[in-house]
Amino acid sequence: MIFNRELLQNHRILVTGASSGIGRATAILLASHGAVLVITGRDQIRLNETLSLLEGDGHVAEQFDLTGEDNISDFMKTITADDRPLSGIFHAAGIELVRPLKLSKAKQFDEVFSSSVKSALALSRGAAMRGVMQDNSALIFMSSVAAQSGQAGMSIYSAAKAAIDGMVKSLSVEFAPRRIRVNSIAAGAVVTEMHQRLIRATPDASIQTYEDKHLLGFGQPIDIAQVAAFLFSDAGRWITGSTWSVDGGYLAR
Ligand SMILES: NC(=O)c1ccc[n+]([C@@H]2O[C@H](COP(=O)([O-])OP(=O)(O)OC[C@H]3O[C@@H](n4cnc5c(N)ncnc54)[C@H](OP(=O)(O)O)[C@@H]3O)[C@@H](O)[C@H]2O)c1
Repeated sequence: MIFNRELLQNHRILVTGASSGIGRATAILLASHGAVLVITGRDQIRLNETLSLLEGDGHVAEQFDLTGEDNISDFMKTITADDRPLSGIFHAAGIELVRPLKLSKAKQFDEVFSSSVKSALALSRGAAMRGVMQDNSALIFMSSVAAQSGQAGMSIYSAAKAAIDGMVKSLSVEFAPRRIRVNSIAAGAVVTEMHQRLIRATPDASIQTYEDKHLLGFGQPIDIAQVAAFLFSDAGRWITGSTWSVDGGYLAR
């Protein structure tokens, strides 16, 4: 426990992608520091598992597919009805795609952009509606080192994450009058279900080479969750419009 247990008391935070990996670990950490959460994902069973792991009372699990971008505003109005605005959004939902561009289909462009980028835009649009966010709150989007460092088969995923990093710049300007901060976290390889799927598709000989590119080896979900907790807390009150590299040194060379 690095932070004070009360670090996020009086915070109400929406966590997307909470049924798995980074989203789940972040939800668990935020709740253990006093935040009350609305968690979402598509898989109700795994979402309920996350709910059962959250400390404290008042958390809500809502199964929700973020690909229907036009429904997101309604979803946000519903979860903040009765004067329960959010103090934060952690958007971890996303899907991976490793495929040479020449073999990719337009449907895959849409799936990757929809789960990560269009949903981030729609969540932000929802966040701008009256009563949804408190002033002095924070939005955090999951990005990736893939936005800044090329890899074969990652064009679509890289483009999506670069869009996230671009988005936080302009959004931070739009939201600054209300002191709503907007940042992204560009992660290196973090051992999650997504990571395991990628590793299963990688030849054994290449896995060690991939890990060695991370000066400190592969990361754990908690390594991202701790940064999110810091950014949501008052310690992050002067940080906006930035992309935080949390990558075990992947981008250092
Ligand atoms: N792991 C890494 O190495 C790594 C590195 C850099 C960036 N990232 C980014 O970090 C984020 C979290 O990754 P992870 O490794 O934790 O992945 P993960 O274990 O596969 O979890 C992804 C989460 O996103 C949810 N999701 C996907 N599509 C969705 C949709 N259309 N609507 C609603 N929820 C959806 C999934 O929900 P269901 O399972 O319920 O369907 C799941 O909860 C992603 O944005 C990823 O791109 C990960």
